[in-house]
Amino acid sequence: MNYQEYEKAVIELNNYAYHYYVLDNPITTDEVYDKLYHHIIEYEEKNREQILENSPTQRVGDVVSEGFNKAKHKSRMWSLEDVFNEDDLQKWLTRVYKFDDIVTFYCEPKYDGASLNLLYEDGKLTQAITRGDGVEGEDITQNAKTIKTIPLSIEYKEAIEIRGEVVIFKAEFERINEDRVKNGENLFANPRNAAAGSLRQLDSSITANRNLVFLPYGIGENTLDISLLSKRMEFIYSLGFKMPPHRRLCERFEDIEAVYEKMKDERESYEMMLDGMVVKVDQIEAQENMGYTVKVPRWAVAYKFPAVEKITTVRDIILQVGRSGVITPVAIVEPTNIDGVVVERATLHNFDEIQRKDIRINDKVIILRSGDVIPKIIKVLELHRDGTQREVSRPKECPVCGSELLDEGALIKCQNLTCKARVVNSIIYFASKQCLNIDGLGDKIVKALFESGLVESVEDIFSLTLEKLLALDGFKEKKSQNLLDSIENVKGCDCWRFINSLGIEHIGEVASKTLCSAFGLLFVDATKEQLIALEGIGEEMAEAVLEFVRVNHEHILRLQSFLLPVVPAPKVEVLENPFKGKSVVLTGSMSQPRDEIKKMLEALGAKIVGSVSKKTDMVIYGDDAGSKYDKAVELGVQTLDEDEMKEMLDV
Ligand code: IVH
Repeated sequence: MNYQEYEKAVIELNNYAYHYYVLDNPITTDEVYDKLYHHIIEYEEKNREQILENSPTQRVGDVVSEGFNKAKHKSRMWSLEDVFNEDDLQKWLTRVYKFDDIVTFYCEPKYDGASLNLLYEDGKLTQAITRGDGVEGEDITQNAKTIKTIPLSIEYKEAIEIRGEVVIFKAEFERINEDRVKNGENLFANPRNAAAGSLRQLDSSITANRNLVFLPYGIGENTLDISLLSKRMEFIYSLGFKMPPHRRLCERFEDIEAVYEKMKDERESYEMMLDGMVVKVDQIEAQENMGYTVKVPRWAVAYKFPAVEKITTVRDIILQVGRSGVITPVAIVEPTNIDGVVVERATLHNFDEIQRKDIRINDKVIILRSGDVIPKIIKVLELHRDGTQREVSRPKECPVCGSELLDEGALIKCQNLTCKARVVNSIIYFASKQCLNIDGLGDKIVKALFESGLVESVEDIFSLTLEKLLALDGFKEKKSQNLLDSIENVKGCDCWRFINSLGIEHIGEVASKTLCSAFGLLFVDATKEQLIALEGIGEEMAEAVLEFVRVNHEHILRLQSFLLPVVPAPKVEVLENPFKGKSVVLTGSMSQPRDEIKKMLEALGAKIVGSVSKKTDMVIYGDDAGSKYDKAVELGVQTLDEDEMKEMLDV
């Protein structure tokens, strides 16, 4: 890099930073940002006299946006130095050991969210300030108070700053974006932007609805007399703060590597997005001796995970038709390896979203893939356009059946009930895990059965025979018999599965369970008033149930006769009585059959067991009681004859 390139890099990085911090709207990936940042640092280290005043390395955070009052942190909020591989980590450790060679390391996740500083005075949350430039941020106390994982008061009276990351769990992020698609609003690029955006809402009721989560990672101003960071954090958790999903104390490089590998491998199973692991010196005294550079502590480092956002090219945009007829555009992208998985397609949600983001075929885009977050395009890199890009127009006809589409704005729908895509997808849905869970009836088999003409509706599944299946290509005796057995097995399925499998609009697993426990199979007779009286069932859902039942009454009855759904007996709370929750052994002959006594006691909440042990609460004995009675006496277990038992029942 020469001076001119350095100057250009600083302008470019400042522009990235402005979009990232101020507009909450990144225009490149963290990976590209970090690389450029490191190039700049490298140049500056060799050419100290040329460092530009506006170089992003000369300040910690970035500009505070207008809207909230500015507020100063009591002690500075630091950033972290990044390392990306074993060598970098080893170098960092060598530097640490130069200061102190007996330190241990506290490792915890690096959450991908927005940092927040909470000030507690006299046990009360008095101020919450965003990080801002590390010295001064925005006072968002009102919004912070809506976050359920932030205690409003704590059992500790001294003034203390508790620092942490505000995140949105991946599932919640998907839910928010689904709602935003429906309402025709701009989608959030990733959970981090969603968290940052939600935190800085001027209307705190919006923040409250976003289910933000605060995860503490450190302490600012304090008068604690605890000499280890790990113990300080234990103390913070004990005040009512959320603990990290994984944390460990490590002694050596090898331990840190092992914890890092584990966390990296398991990152997808965490509810929140992680972008690395933070390694911190555990001894506070050693931390103080090491101190800080202009920007970061010397005693901590962020060991980053491989990126989950990559730059790729949109090769095509295809249309998928779901079971309800909704057309979903999907981008086919240049295959890109993101953290070990080759991503080839990304959902585009709907056409409004394509238009809003102005996504064109041949565009260079930033794509995000992380665990449960469905791969999605979060940004078009417009500066890379070279004239070869093609816009896609809103479809007018169904790509599968050719019938005219209904364009409702956010949703475009194929209304042809016999459209092949709709039928096949509804059969796939019917057999899927969250519905009837029919083993061996996955996408491919459903398509083959449909193509052969054997299964053209869900009801046809129940007239399949061995003979019919064997006549098809690729259906050998064993595979066919297994399929028939799994279809037979769904008989007697739980009622909620039956309701869910009907595919009623807006009625998913949770609502199906609600309907099942409220009405059982009689949900078909429920009135609108009865439906909306249920927790979680709104007007739109109630209307959908009523309409579905009106149009499909016969179909529901026929399916019911194939499936014979069972409504599980409601669990009735047994009233208090001397036998409730007791482990009871019956022995000897009684005045009425033992089985009847057993049923009666079970109805009272007793557990009837076969043999006597120390865990047995009572032995009820009849005539000729033998060894079980003797053992009860030997172990000091309470013994009752039939009359005594009845007496206890009368009380
Ligand atoms: S410690 C003095 N620990 O990452 C130490 N930071 O890249 C300062 N972050 O501004 C930070 N998880 O917003 C720390 N477990 C963690 C973290 C964490 C996420 C964020 C934090 C910080 C940024 C630095």
